[in-house]
Amino acid sequence: MEPRPVVIAVCGKGGVGKTSLSALIVRSLTRDPARRVLAVDADPAVGLAYALGMPVVKTVDQIRQELIQTLGEAPSADKEELLRRLDYDLFAALSERDNLAFLAIGRPEGHGCFCQVNQLLRQLIGDLAGRFDAVVIDGEAGLEQIQRRVMDLVTHLLVASDGSLKSRRVAATLHHMARELPDLQAAGVLFNKLAPVEETEILAANPLPLIHVLHEIPAIRDFDRRGRSFFDLPWSAEMAKLEDAVLRFLNPRP
Ligand SMILES: Nc1ncnc2c1ncn2[C@@H]1O[C@H](COP(=O)(O)OP(=O)(O)O)[C@@H](O)[C@H]1O
Ligand SMILES: [Mg+2]
Repeated sequence: MEPRPVVIAVCGKGGVGKTSLSALIVRSLTRDPARRVLAVDADPAVGLAYALGMPVVKTVDQIRQELIQTLGEAPSADKEELLRRLDYDLFAALSERDNLAFLAIGRPEGHGCFCQVNQLLRQLIGDLAGRFDAVVIDGEAGLEQIQRRVMDLVTHLLVASDGSLKSRRVAATLHHMARELPDLQAAGVLFNKLAPVEETEILAANPLPLIHVLHEIPAIRDFDRRGRSFFDLPWSAEMAKLEDAVLRFLNPRP
């Protein structure tokens, strides 16, 4: 059997830096040209596309909507036919550059109806993920809508938080909820945008496994404001430390 890919999901309250961190992690993982990386933007606002400099061809939600519309017109399509079409559409929706592929999910799936299409898509995204060595998911803020299409695949949950009490509470809740993920191997918190003066107090109060502390880096905000690709962000000691911490989180030394 093929080794399963490492599937890392970045989650946390809105604004804590999920998209920025996802982009930095993708950049680090793709530095090894032998590692095939799939980046998944699971936030309907599709910010990861900018941070990676990748175009959004079509979102999974658009594929789903189009198919549902066709099915309404020709409801007799059989399952094999559906699967072939979704598989084709999903591949067409991927954008690729070197060892990186990018997929945007768009809006989360609604409840109830069109279960067959939703289930097939989930299965196909799982199959797709299996063709990569690493998958990085930029999750969305909401707890309820954690995207079932992708979250079941997660092996490593990186909960991002800034110094605020609110985001730390969300982090604790997400870390608790992570127990429900069927394939989870590790979960921890990454504090982002911390000012050195608040670090000691926040770390002392933190009950979660600590992945890393990343400070406020002006270049990140600057690149974000201009919509520039994080692949062009100047390499720095902070970047190298973040990369080491993420690789350790993914591959703990025995
Ligand atoms: N380490 C950092 N240093 C400086 N600014 C940051 C850092 N991480 C994130 N930001 C900024 O914080 C804001 C929110 O980040 P973003 O990644 O979009 O968060 P999220 O995806 O969680 O909503 C953006 O303006 C981003 O540039
Ligand atoms: Mg975001």
